[in-house]
Amino acid sequence: MSATSSSRCRHFGSCGGCLTQDQAYEAQLAAKSAALGELFSPFWPSPIEPLPSPDVWYYRNKVELSFHLNYDKNPATGKLEPSNPALGFKRRGRWYETLDIEECFLLSPELSSLLGAVREWARAHDVPVYDQKTRRGLLRHLVVREGKNTGERLVMLLAAPGDLDRKSFARAVSSSYPATTILVGTNDSISDVAQAQSLETLEGPGFIRESLTVGPVKRTFRVSPFSFFQTNTRATEKLYGLARDWVADEKPKTLLDLYGGSGTIGLSVNDLAGKVVSVEAVASATADGHVNAEAAGAANIEFVSAAVEAWLPGRDLEADAAIVDPPRSGLHPKALKALVERPLPRLLYVSCNPKLLARELPELFKAYRLEWIKAVDMFPHTEHVEAVASLRASTNA
Ligand SMILES: C[S@@+](CC[C@H](N)C(=O)[O-])C[C@H]1O[C@@H](n2cnc3c(N)ncnc32)[C@H](O)[C@@H]1O
Repeated sequence: MSATSSSRCRHFGSCGGCLTQDQAYEAQLAAKSAALGELFSPFWPSPIEPLPSPDVWYYRNKVELSFHLNYDKNPATGKLEPSNPALGFKRRGRWYETLDIEECFLLSPELSSLLGAVREWARAHDVPVYDQKTRRGLLRHLVVREGKNTGERLVMLLAAPGDLDRKSFARAVSSSYPATTILVGTNDSISDVAQAQSLETLEGPGFIRESLTVGPVKRTFRVSPFSFFQTNTRATEKLYGLARDWVADEKPKTLLDLYGGSGTIGLSVNDLAGKVVSVEAVASATADGHVNAEAAGAANIEFVSAAVEAWLPGRDLEADAAIVDPPRSGLHPKALKALVERPLPRLLYVSCNPKLLARELPELFKAYRLEWIKAVDMFPHTEHVEAVASLRASTNA
């Protein structure tokens, strides 16, 4: 497959992202609706039509790119040898290779010049790309985050330990891209994941802020380099709008926001609840949550820094509703068991992995009945879609 007249990006076909961009957006939505209908047909007979993403291009507020040393076979010797160092996304169907990205319609038009400047900086200063095979070299990942509603922008370089010229890197970024903060993280881990054991802020505050307007509530959130934030800002306003309407239905005295990240759902609905308890495992996200609550003047939200599966079981819950928004791996079995053994009156399950939600629903049906399933398209040009299921404790549970 290669770029076609109906695909926008020159990398379509080679790049592992945006695999359905050659289809009209309406056709993509219809395909997602059909897939959801089939998946949930045992439980929910009505059509599920995803709310469309307000932005179809440049909808993401974060991208993670890899520096990578690709290997080619030397025809003379037959041996694999490092070929071009690349900065980009994984290749379609060849996850062990990285494609040099020259244009991309996911983040912002300015990304291309940033990538060009970083490549040029690496070449001019002879900074070696990290080689997964030999564990030599420096450059590993580049993370870029943009506040779509605030204009704030973060660039973070992740490099193996070594002598890295930070000043010239910061200059290269600033000359090509309107970053409001620039960081370098040191990553000594074996796995090819964008992470850091230590972080240094080169310019700006070390984080960005992003605003969300959900119904009548506008909040501004601090987003730290490694904190989770929904990647499609404008579609998130729709997703949280569903959660807000759900909370408004019954105005719980105590609402649990499980897998709460930096409290973004909780702070979009806390005026409708007596109290919100947000439970999150990543400490930096919880720290952001405290800052966000203070900035919002929200005194009725409490943050717990814990794994849900450790915090929930056996707890004497007086909550009358819970929103669960787990990562792609779904609910931890211990968390699922606790929700079934001691059901809350109402449960809203927000899922970025509908296949897993469909697998977990039969277990939840031991204690809950389904009120509805809705969906929001957070990920145009991919097969992914966010599903939301409203459950109510069954009276005989
Ligand atoms: C899909 S995100 C949702 C975050 C938040 N609700 C939002 O809308 O931004 C899932 C969150 O769960 C957190 N997480 C992952 N595993 C967890 C666990 N076992 N217990 C608590 N939080 C966890 C992640 O760090 C992430 O912030």
